Amino acid sequence: MFVLRPATEQDAAKIRHLVNIGKINPTGLKWQRFMVVESPQGEVIGCAQVKSHGDGSDELASLVTHPDWRGQGVARALIEHFSENHPGDLYLMCRSSLGPLYEQFGYQTVPTDELPRYFQRIQRMLGLFERLRDDGEGVLVMKRLANT
Ligand SMILES: CC(C)(COP(=O)(O)OP(=O)(O)OC[C@H]1O[C@@H](n2cnc3c(N)ncnc32)[C@H](O)[C@@H]1OP(=O)(O)O)[C@@H](O)C(=O)NCCC(=O)NCCS
Repeated sequence: MFVLRPATEQDAAKIRHLVNIGKINPTGLKWQRFMVVESPQGEVIGCAQVKSHGDGSDELASLVTHPDWRGQGVARALIEHFSENHPGDLYLMCRSSLGPLYEQFGYQTVPTDELPRYFQRIQRMLGLFERLRDDGEGVLVMKRLANT
């Protein structure tokens, strides 16, 4: 149906395109860190990466499924891949409406005072903009503990 594989340099533009379609953070899209999902026709239909931050925390980021492929387990395959293959704890940031999606995969919301410095800073910055939004959505930082 579809396959998961490490990204290559040829995927860099396709990853940027997916991230634009998904309307998520377009910065720090180093293809070397990405896994992509490929359709039977060879199109890149999903992607995600793990970013490492200066405070030692790692973030599951840039998760997008092409709109034509949503609801068919593409994000599930990517989330499960990183859960199984990433050696340490993993954080992620998401709109609050996506919290239940990630809870299914063992992620739990982290209280602000327990966040690594990087996420505290971003959450503070985003908090300033949240007041300007009209959809009532906040941002969650969630964490999945390393497999033991
Ligand atoms: C969020 C997104 C990545 C989900 O991708 P997907 O490939 O459709 O997800 P899957 O089909 O693998 O679904 C996995 C599980 O999450 C659930 N899920 C999917 N989208 C969801 C949503 N918007 N809200 C709540 N749960 C959701 C599914 O029900 C599924 O559970 P199930 O297997 O028990 O039915 C996709 O909608 C997307 O690209 N959105 C735009 C970019 C974005 O917001 N990325 C997340 C940044 S934090």
